[in-house]
Amino acid sequence: MQISQDKKRNLFIKSYGCQMNEYDSERMTEILEKHNYSSVDEPNQADLIILNTCHIREKAAEKIYSELGRLKKINSNSERDIKVAVAGCVGQAEGHEIIKRSPIVDLVFGPLTYHQLPEMLEEIESKPGFPNKKLVNIDVPDEDKFLELKGSRKNLKSISSLLSIQEGCDKFCSFCVVPYTRGVEISRPAKQIISEAKELIGIGAKEIILLGQNVNAWSQSNGSDIDMTFPQLIKEISELNIDRIRYITSHPKDMTEELMKSHKNIKKLQPYLHLPVQSGSDKILKEMNRNYTSQEYKDIIYKAREYRPDIAISGDFIVGFPGETDDDFESTLDIVEKVKYAHAYSFKYSPRPGTPAALKEDQIDEEVKSSRLKTLQELIKQQTRDFNSSFLEREIDVLIEKKGIGENRLTGRSSYLQPVHMSGDASLIGENLKVKIIKTRDNSLEGIIL
Ligand code: SAH
Ligand code: SF4
Ligand code: F3S
Repeated sequence: MQISQDKKRNLFIKSYGCQMNEYDSERMTEILEKHNYSSVDEPNQADLIILNTCHIREKAAEKIYSELGRLKKINSNSERDIKVAVAGCVGQAEGHEIIKRSPIVDLVFGPLTYHQLPEMLEEIESKPGFPNKKLVNIDVPDEDKFLELKGSRKNLKSISSLLSIQEGCDKFCSFCVVPYTRGVEISRPAKQIISEAKELIGIGAKEIILLGQNVNAWSQSNGSDIDMTFPQLIKEISELNIDRIRYITSHPKDMTEELMKSHKNIKKLQPYLHLPVQSGSDKILKEMNRNYTSQEYKDIIYKAREYRPDIAISGDFIVGFPGETDDDFESTLDIVEKVKYAHAYSFKYSPRPGTPAALKEDQIDEEVKSSRLKTLQELIKQQTRDFNSSFLEREIDVLIEKKGIGENRLTGRSSYLQPVHMSGDASLIGENLKVKIIKTRDNSLEGIIL
């Protein structure tokens, strides 16, 4: 499909939310580059602005409307015919509502239809005699998006490259919008994934981060028979010319012993596990529809540490879920004390339209949520600080990712995902080097290259 003679245009794309959105933005950029679009860093230089949005919490979704307000000014001051598109999870969830609330928007689509961008742009293109048309495309398509996207990956944003291996979610946690915005859980075929991994390696990727909302539920099956498990897929990827492999995000329910063992047996698989627990209270976990108990969660962590004692554990927490008492919250603090996190994200519960938890009557006061969040974040911060402090004087592997801030400075990542800053020449980007840690900070390490 041609977009109006494919004349040269500028694209500005901004990503919100999770790494799946970042990945999707990379793919959208690639599709549009094939049609003569070039990326620009400022919206006022663009002919097409895409906001790739996140609907996970109210604040995330509302951000989009403030951004659209700012874009309205740019649009009215510009002589260009700027098209504005809202993509991603807000697009999928709110559809036509977005155009009603913000008339500068020309196009709305979701995570399932972005491969149709050239056709959609053609449809909204102004044509002589026809007024500008608006389009909302949030239907679930029949075709396989990734097959349609097939072709060379050429947008290496970082030597640490994202690769989406699974889409959607069937778990329906009672607080979460993802099953409604990303659709049913689908695992991409192994062949497709390996071929994309090879393409990324071909353009310089040194680390591959396998992505999915429940990435560890990935499997390739033929009817009821499993052809390939997630650890087997990791093994296959580890045989390619790549330094490091990571995966994110995992669900406790899909955590197999085979996967825990892989952290011991597959050298390239990094010692890092992001395993959200959300709450330490069994009552709340049940209400959340998480399908595990706090003890089952802890047992997974202890088992993973048997196979890989140094594995860094990270997690997600929600405080102030409807009905959460002081005792429930204490159980959350308790699980944090027991697990000892290297790093974790925590959020105030945000009621989301269409989710069962939003209809519960026992919603928690904002002030209580804020105070619990503060207490939890202080505890997590202390654990991160302790984790980082334990690296002082140690010699560790660091993958150098990019230039740092300041002259002759570099930034990389440890195997445990800590940012490591050091002095060194930009020619070292992409190298996996031994670095001695000489200083530790709350959220990063300072080292010298050995
Ligand atoms: N699939 C992952 C999480 C994906 S969403 C899992 O099941 O663990 C990322 C995180 O956002 C969640 O782990 C949760 O902590 C947070 N989150 C999701 N919905 C939320 C809501 N309604 N309010 C606050 N935080 C939420
Ligand atoms: Fe949301 Fe639960 Fe699915 Fe995670 S597992 S994406 S929290 S519904
Ligand atoms: Fe947000 Fe959608 Fe990701 S709601 S967290 S962008 S899956």
